[in-house]
Amino acid sequence: MIDSFGRRITYVRMSVTDRCDLRCRYCMAEKMTFLPRKDVLSLEEIVELADVFIARGVRRIRLTGGEPLVRKGIDVLTSELGKRIGRGLDELTMTTNGTQLARHADMLFDSGIRRINVSLDSRDPDRFRHVTRRGDLAQVLGGIGAAARAGLKIKINMVALKGINDDEIGSMLRWCANEGHDLTLIETMPLGEVEEDRTEHYLPLSDVRSSLEREFDLIPSLARTGGPARYYEVDGLGVRLGLITPLTHNFCDGCNRIRVAATGTVFGCLGHDQRVELRDVLRNGGADAVTDALDRLLAGKPKGHQFRIEAAQPAVERHMSVTGG
Ligand SMILES: C[S@@+](CC[C@H](N)C(=O)[O-])C[C@H]1O[C@@H](n2cnc3c(N)ncnc32)[C@H](O)[C@@H]1O
Ligand code: SF4
Repeated sequence: MIDSFGRRITYVRMSVTDRCDLRCRYCMAEKMTFLPRKDVLSLEEIVELADVFIARGVRRIRLTGGEPLVRKGIDVLTSELGKRIGRGLDELTMTTNGTQLARHADMLFDSGIRRINVSLDSRDPDRFRHVTRRGDLAQVLGGIGAAARAGLKIKINMVALKGINDDEIGSMLRWCANEGHDLTLIETMPLGEVEEDRTEHYLPLSDVRSSLEREFDLIPSLARTGGPARYYEVDGLGVRLGLITPLTHNFCDGCNRIRVAATGTVFGCLGHDQRVELRDVLRNGGADAVTDALDRLLAGKPKGHQFRIEAAQPAVERHMSVTGG
């Protein structure tokens, strides 16, 4: 799949559910109405779509949500998709909030997953509960431990929030180094419908980097993933730090990805509402019709995104996942 700007699409993020057992303040409202089941792709349909993507050159698939591990049958789905690894697919990964990891870690490894991203915005139990509105830190840390024991390489995703967790970023980096995890910091993005005023907690990662540089030697790394992250090696700690700065950096020239919502809506860009609905196309016309619809998406994939904080919020669906590439 090559878009009209010559960018080759090799990476797809697939949301397998809009549901979640947490309610992170920057992501969801306290009272959520989730989609009726018929609107969400079935597990079989997700596999069918994945097969079309793989046939068209996609090499990496990341499962996300909502929270992917609350989807019933997620074990069946990951093991089915895992069979594609080495047969067109190079890598299957997942982004999870970690609450269900303790019971799923071995299953993920057995499916062929080797790396996961786990979201963790604070290592203070009260703060963690505040940000997630209900999360139990011990449960998530237990899940992270189980995943590490199962052999999964873990990257921690931490959304940088002014006045909430900005004072624990350095200690999170040290903890990650001790545990053998990488750390990626994420700027809050104007996605999803939430009650909170996200501008209040918006923290530019340029500020975070300056303050980390007073404590750590950050060596810019050439590693790029085609996503919005820039990477640094932290001298002496042996940990890789990623900064995801969609609002302050332009990363669009090398964009290699598209995103599929749990409904089968596929988006060419996170910061635009350019989209093509694949669910009914798949249900009515099968794989060939999906291929044609993907061509329409590629033809219209925007050159770059246009975020503005809270103003002119793009109509990106709440159950899109935004990070972790
Ligand atoms: C939408 S979640 C889905 C997967 C899983 N539930 C989790 O939390 O890891 C994926 C990532 O997006 C991040 N995220 C969600 N809403 C965001 C926002 N408005 N700005 C920045 N990051 C956000 C989360 O912190 C998480 O790391
Ligand atoms: S960020 Fe992830 S864990 Fe938090 S509410 Fe959103 S989907 Fe759920």
